[in-house]
Amino acid sequence: MSRLIASFTLAAGLLASASVSAVEISISCSALGKEYEICKQGVDAWAQKTGNTVKIVSTPNSATERLALYQQLLAAGAGDIDVFQIDVVWTGILADHLVDLTAKGQGEIGGHLPAMAETSRVNGKLMAMPWFADAGLLYYRQDLLDKYKRPVPQTWADLTETARIIQEGERKDDKGDFWGYVWQGRAYEGLTTVALEWIASYNGGTIVDEKGEITVENPKAAEALKTAAGWVGTITPEGVLNYTEEEARGVFQAGNAAFMRNWPYAWALAQGADSTIKGKVGIAPLPKGGADGRHAGTLGGQLLAVSKYSKNAEAATDLVMYLTGEAEQKRRAVEGSFNPTIVSLYSDTDIAKANPFIGDLADVFSNAVARPATVTGQNYNKVSTEFFNAIHQVLSKRSQPEQALNRLDRDLKRIKRNGWQ
Ligand code: GLC
Repeated sequence: MSRLIASFTLAAGLLASASVSAVEISISCSALGKEYEICKQGVDAWAQKTGNTVKIVSTPNSATERLALYQQLLAAGAGDIDVFQIDVVWTGILADHLVDLTAKGQGEIGGHLPAMAETSRVNGKLMAMPWFADAGLLYYRQDLLDKYKRPVPQTWADLTETARIIQEGERKDDKGDFWGYVWQGRAYEGLTTVALEWIASYNGGTIVDEKGEITVENPKAAEALKTAAGWVGTITPEGVLNYTEEEARGVFQAGNAAFMRNWPYAWALAQGADSTIKGKVGIAPLPKGGADGRHAGTLGGQLLAVSKYSKNAEAATDLVMYLTGEAEQKRRAVEGSFNPTIVSLYSDTDIAKANPFIGDLADVFSNAVARPATVTGQNYNKVSTEFFNAIHQVLSKRSQPEQALNRLDRDLKRIKRNGWQ
């Protein structure tokens, strides 16, 4: 009798666990380059392992548009998306709508890069898990540097000169649409990351410092902006004012630019079988702002978080832990050149073989410049929006650098009036 009860309980238990786990989870994955395909392979593997199904929701490529969409969905308390791919600078902005993952993630987080772990916490709680790390990089055409006998540029002045020489030479060689340098110049979050690199490379600070002081109005920042504005229409197409990551990559990968600023994901694509520049590309730290400047790459990257409005938070959390785990981060690094956030993977030989730049540029990643997201908290998006709009004005020659920075300082002070948080 008791055996009968035991086996009945066991069967009921199995049934219960089967029905509990058979759920559909939806995840928002970005779709830059091969990102969608690589995300799909990862979620399919989890679905197969657990018996659940996963639906991928595509999101806009522009980080700024993506955030607006997320805020709209979350403000309405919509449970349509269970797992959100969020930017490292959004954790504070979205935290109120996310599940606290501390209990599930605390055993793992110690193995992740400290800077990425930091971006996942809000007031000491783990509100997301790190998925991949980004830092701004300089992509160059090694074959063209060889052809024109130029070294990899170390300063922005070197880059400006080399880009001009190659552009002039290639145009004479019948490539009328060839450009020296492409990057992200649209008025969106990407421009914040790019312009922060220029300013930091001239030792002009990080917009708002770690103590919360607004530092952006300074002569070094103005000099950095003047240099960048000088590229537009000379070594950089005017169209850059509407470029995000993918437009810049499109020009560079078609073989129509000597240099490009982009994130690591562009490497796997540039080296892909169908790429016209396969085997001709190198990656270096972004140039310094003069001899006493520094190489500065902005820290970017993505995290995975669970919506507080998810009806299947437990399964959603399990998916997050799977995707951010070691095996999946390794697969993504090898196939898509997404930099892992798990420290031990930096000595993995398969990853190093697929992405030699990860080891060569370890300094760029460990010294990446953080945006002032933690210190400005809920206000970060407002700060960034004022910043990229001011920069866009300068690049489109509607404002002088000094004038734009002065106005920006005033606008940021207005946002800060009652403190940042
Ligand atoms: C990348 C980075 C992210 C950054 C964005 C800007 O997705 O990972 O941190 O905000 O680009 O476009």
